[in-house]
Amino acid sequence: MSRTAILAGCAELPSGDGDDDAVVPALRELGFSVSWAAWDSDADFASADAVVLRATWDYASRRAEFLDWCESVPALYNPAGVVRWNTDKSYLAELLDAGLAVVPTALVSPGDTARFPSSDFVVKPSVGAGSRGAARFAAGADASSHVAALHAEGQTALIQPYQSSVDTEGELALVYLGGIYSHAFAKSAMLGSTMDDSGLFLSEKLAPAEPPAAAVALAEDVLDAASALLGILRAELLYARVDLVPGADGKPLLLELELTEPSLGFRQTDPAAAMRFASAVRQQLA
Ligand SMILES: Nc1ncnc2c1ncn2[C@@H]1O[C@H](COP(=O)(O)OP(=O)(O)O)[C@@H](O)[C@H]1O
Ligand SMILES: [Mg+2]
Repeated sequence: MSRTAILAGCAELPSGDGDDDAVVPALRELGFSVSWAAWDSDADFASADAVVLRATWDYASRRAEFLDWCESVPALYNPAGVVRWNTDKSYLAELLDAGLAVVPTALVSPGDTARFPSSDFVVKPSVGAGSRGAARFAAGADASSHVAALHAEGQTALIQPYQSSVDTEGELALVYLGGIYSHAFAKSAMLGSTMDDSGLFLSEKLAPAEPPAAAVALAEDVLDAASALLGILRAELLYARVDLVPGADGKPLLLELELTEPSLGFRQTDPAAAMRFASAVRQQLA
């Protein structure tokens, strides 16, 4: 049976940054005709059997337009409702309320006054990707103007204590395909690194990693809690990436749950991961 899959990128990177290259032949082996297209292009998304968000990194500045487009695509993965929830980092507060170990997060909406932590801290937009708009401040610094700049764009500001373990140990990203653990990779510290040539994201240094048991346990809890909040089964998430950092006590904390357009680290893991991804796409259509 021949089916069509479109991998969605953006105008600057219409066929991604290379991370997903191995996914294309894997999908073809499973019977898909595969193409890439920028999400805001005139490709025939309506008749594709699967439209898979992979590199739509420019949505942050046009989220409403992006979400409208998501709603218009009949077979979108992850689905539009998941994308709506996940493209605003306010979901971190919901996961915190659900009892999960999350990096302490204060949300400051336009009109509200920010209070800054007494340690080093980060201010970032609640809608953002690729580290854009995220800045690190020293303890005691006045970050009001950064908050004001985010508010002027209509953004809610997120304030978190800076997790200094990011500098020494980096982030751990656990990848789930169809709700099942697939692989993990490590990411070195981002803030202070350089912007990618495309200007869409900070360059990342990635390496394969074996997650400790505590990290896997937290990632599992995060997926269960997110699915419950979304009212879906874990298996309905074609892909999920759980980004963890060690807290001050060494125990993992959730920094971000990526359900929209995360790099999945296919170049940092075993070659079979691309086939697991393609198989998970088939599972969604079954
Ligand atoms: N609280 C924090 N402590 C340390 N580093 C942080 C913190 N928040 C963000 N960062 C750094 O900034 C990067 C981008 O922030 P993140 O929350 O992952 O947003 P996004 O990846 O969506 O832009 C992270 O990968 C991390 O390196
Ligand atoms: Mg991130």
